[in-house]
Amino acid sequence: MVGEPVNVNEFQELAREALPKMYYDFYAGGAEDQYTLKENVEAFHRIMIRPRILVDVSRVDMSTTVLGYKISAPILIAPTALHKLAHPEGEITTARAAAASKTIMVLSFTSSCTVEEVASSCNAIRFFQLYVYKQREIAAMLVQRAERNGYKALVVTVDSPRFGRREADIKNKMVAPRLKNLEGLLSIEADSDNGSNLEAYANKTMDASLCWKDIEWLKSITNLPILIKGVLTGEDAIKAAEVGVAGIMVSNHGARQLDYTDATINVLEEVVRAVRGRVPVFLDGGVRRGTDIFKALALGAQAVLIGRPVIFGLAAKGEHGVRQVIQMLKDELEITMALAGCRSVKDITRRHVRTERERL
Ligand code: FNR
Repeated sequence: MVGEPVNVNEFQELAREALPKMYYDFYAGGAEDQYTLKENVEAFHRIMIRPRILVDVSRVDMSTTVLGYKISAPILIAPTALHKLAHPEGEITTARAAAASKTIMVLSFTSSCTVEEVASSCNAIRFFQLYVYKQREIAAMLVQRAERNGYKALVVTVDSPRFGRREADIKNKMVAPRLKNLEGLLSIEADSDNGSNLEAYANKTMDASLCWKDIEWLKSITNLPILIKGVLTGEDAIKAAEVGVAGIMVSNHGARQLDYTDATINVLEEVVRAVRGRVPVFLDGGVRRGTDIFKALALGAQAVLIGRPVIFGLAAKGEHGVRQVIQMLKDELEITMALAGCRSVKDITRRHVRTERERL
């Protein structure tokens, strides 16, 4: 028993207690050896902060803007699948917490509530995350529905031409419920004869032929700004900037896809340098502390996205839990900024951190 949590990591324990093992493992797990899963968190521990002293920090302002939308702190909710496995009202509850926390929620394509249900239940600023399936008309249809329902941007996830091998799901025979957004659109039923049906389903549906020219196609079917999620190299960041995306998300899908990619915080600076300020860069993966957010901002991220801690908050305590998770991260970021001598997010610079390489 953890008792009243004092940090985001403790929500993970509460969620473990609250959830059936199959669902907890689905949320918590990563691909194969889960090496990157650990690294995403631990790489943050190897970056040190260089605080500046005697700065007037009697007021600290964490607010920032993302694509022109003002939010209370540089902390967004990452798109994660199937919130109804964690809470009976699923993403509706998460979105309410996003609204109360004055931040942006990125709704997953594989949400357990529809685009419409989430839109009508709260006034959070919402982006919509898109997977492109072989049946292109499904993506086109969802883009239209996102537009019609006031979603402000599309986040196209490009790290999943195949489905990562998550061994816990295979062992647990994890079977995904029907995807609400796709009802009436998709007749494919994945066979679930062997263990989990997740991999079979994803590999049947996901368009593994998706490539750069398809980003042009997406641009041609929407007026919404397009962000690309899953960039891990400077080379791809340059291409993304060239095709005219509105933002780049450095992400390894929370280590659920390709194991042995570097921790996202370790590749952030390469991406930031490559895009040379042409487009904003965001980061997700392993962000568990306000100090992590500070480090990501110092290395050039405009904001971070939070995946698992939000689900763990939802599973443990519903809307209140998600709000607490975001509030804890905000409180920690605020004190970090004060102790490091930064009055606003703009004051956080590259010189406020020392990476492992710089210490050697
Ligand atoms: C994800 N992620 C994800 N990404 C995406 O683009 N579409 C999706 O549907 C999902 N689903 C999903 C489910 C679960 C259970 C997890 C944990 C993750 C990846 C997610 O957006 C984000 O990249 C990571 O979760 C960030 O890492 P942390 O914060 O979980 O360490």
